[in-house]
Amino acid sequence: MDRKFFIKTFGCQMNVYDSDYMAQCLINMGWSSTNNPEEADLVLVNTCTVRAKPEQKASTTLGRLSRLKKKRPHMILGVVGCLAQEKGEELMERFPLLDFAVGPREIAQIKETITKAMEKKERVVALDLDEPPPEPDNCPGYFQGRVTAFISIMQGCNNFCSYCIVPYVRGREASRAPQQILQEARSLLRQGVREITLLGQNVNSYLWESDKERWDFPRLLREVGGLPGLLRLRFTTSHPKDLSEGLIASFGQIETLCPHIHLPFQAGSNRVLELMKRGYTKEDYIELIENLRSVRPEIAITADVMVGFPGETDEDFHHTMDLIQQVEFDGLFSFKYSDRAGTLAATMEPKVPEEEKAERLKILQEFQKQVTFEKNKRLIGKTVKVLVEGPSRRKGQYMGRTPTNKIVNFPATEGNSLVGKEVTLKIKRANLNSLIGSLLN
Ligand code: 5AD
Ligand code: SF4
Repeated sequence: MDRKFFIKTFGCQMNVYDSDYMAQCLINMGWSSTNNPEEADLVLVNTCTVRAKPEQKASTTLGRLSRLKKKRPHMILGVVGCLAQEKGEELMERFPLLDFAVGPREIAQIKETITKAMEKKERVVALDLDEPPPEPDNCPGYFQGRVTAFISIMQGCNNFCSYCIVPYVRGREASRAPQQILQEARSLLRQGVREITLLGQNVNSYLWESDKERWDFPRLLREVGGLPGLLRLRFTTSHPKDLSEGLIASFGQIETLCPHIHLPFQAGSNRVLELMKRGYTKEDYIELIENLRSVRPEIAITADVMVGFPGETDEDFHHTMDLIQQVEFDGLFSFKYSDRAGTLAATMEPKVPEEEKAERLKILQEFQKQVTFEKNKRLIGKTVKVLVEGPSRRKGQYMGRTPTNKIVNFPATEGNSLVGKEVTLKIKRANLNSLIGSLLN
């Protein structure tokens, strides 16, 4: 019998990776994937709870899929990921048709969980946080046709920034063995992947030690970066407080390592940074950026920032804007602070009114838009090397990224033969979120 599964993924790249992990497990069990939940025998919702918005999205989706299950009672419906970890029991009560809730550290048990739900009609809640990171259940050819892929090198986080729920839903830091990571990378490269992004909540604390060996993050980067067939290496996310000199130097030493770093700063006020328990100051952050730029002048810098942390004043916000003006980011992901139950910041007062947060966010985003656009416009007339990822949403065009991670669309009649290759393009036009180029021969 042909059994079909559908996975809906919310949240960060780690969740995308986890969904691929589960999809491979399922295919190895004889299931096939579908894009249509209405014809699926198994539906998984991989959830995020980092802010209020992704949490609401996941809840709405669970409501909709519960209604679908009412019409298709044989369908198995499971919630996995960070929201499942945080509110598993509660979700099982609120959505009585849910068959299971599985936290991110328990996804290695997904096969057993599905079997229990299908054969024994058991409702399962699996939320152990002490499980080691799962090793992939490799499914031959699964990544064929993809140019870029992720590898999770570690799970969890030990930082406990005061606003953040991640340590509570993904548990303590645990690094994977380098041999396993390298094996996974080789397998991806054999399937045609050309760009690998190493993932972790805080990659710079990657550490693997045995009697004979010690692997830190720069060493892992060097080894993965040197694998035959790899064109581009990236990583995300690193924490400013432990961005080591060794890692900064890697940007000048590893040829495949792309000149782009995503380095969240969250706030520019030292008082707020202290309340957030971030472990660095505005001045430390700016110095890191200077060091990165002296090693790799063309390096693109992106970051996460939030406004409206409890007690944030106009003056605090002014420091955030000042940092943004000084650094000139290539792009920013900006958010309104939202209380996450159980975190230290949720207990902090006074809360910033919603309108105030919205106002600050608007000012910040308007400013950043101009900087991003200005930086894109500076590329007009320049020659860039783009790794072609596939057809663009614009008809007749293909898309790829520059080493600095900017999206470039370009017309090409024979584009298919270019997928997975680096091409040289001349930039003709700049938009806010992408560039338009033409092929140079
Ligand atoms: N409120 C708002 N934004 C948050 N982030 C993490 N926790 C919160 C919160 N409670 C943001 C941070 C982080 C990104 C993934 O989400 O900027 O880097
Ligand atoms: Fe969301 Fe954080 Fe979980 Fe990623 S790790 S899915 S951002 S809560």
